[in-house]
Amino acid sequence: MNILGIETSCDETAASIIQGKNGKINIIANTVASQIPIHKKYGGIVPEVAARAHIKKIIPVIEETFKKSGFSLSNIDLISVTHGPGLVTSLLVGIETAKALSFTKKIPLIGINHLKAHIRANFVKNPNIPYPAVSLIASGGHTEISLFKKNSYKRLGQTRDDAAGECFDKTAKILGLGYPGGPEISKKAKKWEDQTKAIKDKFDFSLPRPMINSDNFDFSFSGLKTAVLYLAQDNKDKLKNKHFIQSISYETQQAIVEVLTKKTIKATKKFQAKSILLSGGVAANKTLRQTLAKKAKSLDIEFFVPEFKLCTDNASMIATTAYFDYKNLNKSEKEKLNHTWETLQADPNLKI
Ligand code: KG4
Ligand code: ZN
Repeated sequence: MNILGIETSCDETAASIIQGKNGKINIIANTVASQIPIHKKYGGIVPEVAARAHIKKIIPVIEETFKKSGFSLSNIDLISVTHGPGLVTSLLVGIETAKALSFTKKIPLIGINHLKAHIRANFVKNPNIPYPAVSLIASGGHTEISLFKKNSYKRLGQTRDDAAGECFDKTAKILGLGYPGGPEISKKAKKWEDQTKAIKDKFDFSLPRPMINSDNFDFSFSGLKTAVLYLAQDNKDKLKNKHFIQSISYETQQAIVEVLTKKTIKATKKFQAKSILLSGGVAANKTLRQTLAKKAKSLDIEFFVPEFKLCTDNASMIATTAYFDYKNLNKSEKEKLNHTWETLQADPNLKI
């Protein structure tokens, strides 16, 4: 079955065409137009600016995807689009475009949950993930741990304030680094790892690991960001010092990785999970990938993480989720998808 995916929930305008057959996914074309250069100057996403950029890009991105694939709309069996969670004005651009295509071309349409899609990115290369699985989604808007079985999803914990990616982004802003903060912090942290002992001894800071030992699976990252803010305010004279910035970047990354890893492993043990699924933009972080992979190996548990380009927002993960969701529908539910264009709504707070 050939599926068109459309994603506009945040700051990437994305389209993809995949082929799903016998539980296996083949990505035919994947296009992502990032708005990073547009939002960089504000140090974060401005919703109104994001929506306008989506409007400008959505048709060119879909056209480019078809061009790369060699397909036309007549080859598409199902259209899928993110309908939440996300920024409502951004979501609407993808949804209304998908509805128009579905109505005019008489192709069934399915709304997809963006968070579920992050997890499903793991299924592109690995259709047979062993259940139960513990999933950690860490993105710019969400940090959530859940227990994922074949047809059920139970949230075990989530962030009480900032998401892990948001913490990377806000910390980077305090330190005068670019947007998005995750990749910037991680580059500086790498430089710090390679520093000499003499320099490391000179800038010896430590940051809190919020809620690392709490008796639940919740997170809190806003205190970490505030600790960095106080450190920056107390050391204004050092903010131009590259070693100071590298040292705090390293410590921030360590704090986030340690908290995420500890809680994920705790859930894995408690629920005797057979696998761990990491996903979301922060899953692109090499230290997090390596730390969790190592821990999972030591427990003899399978560890999955999508390839880098499928960690951050993309539409292949949307179309992949559509394939698996569609497979679970009965005949009358499948028929109803011919009318989704009449009813599909954006839901900014959609839960899995
Ligand atoms: O999943 P995503 O593309 O968008 C949302 O759904 O939020 O995640 C974006 C987030 C940003 O906060 C960005 O800083 C973070 O993912 N990120 C990273 C890395 N690459 C992207 N965080 C840490 N290390 C990275 N290499
Ligand atoms: Zn996302």
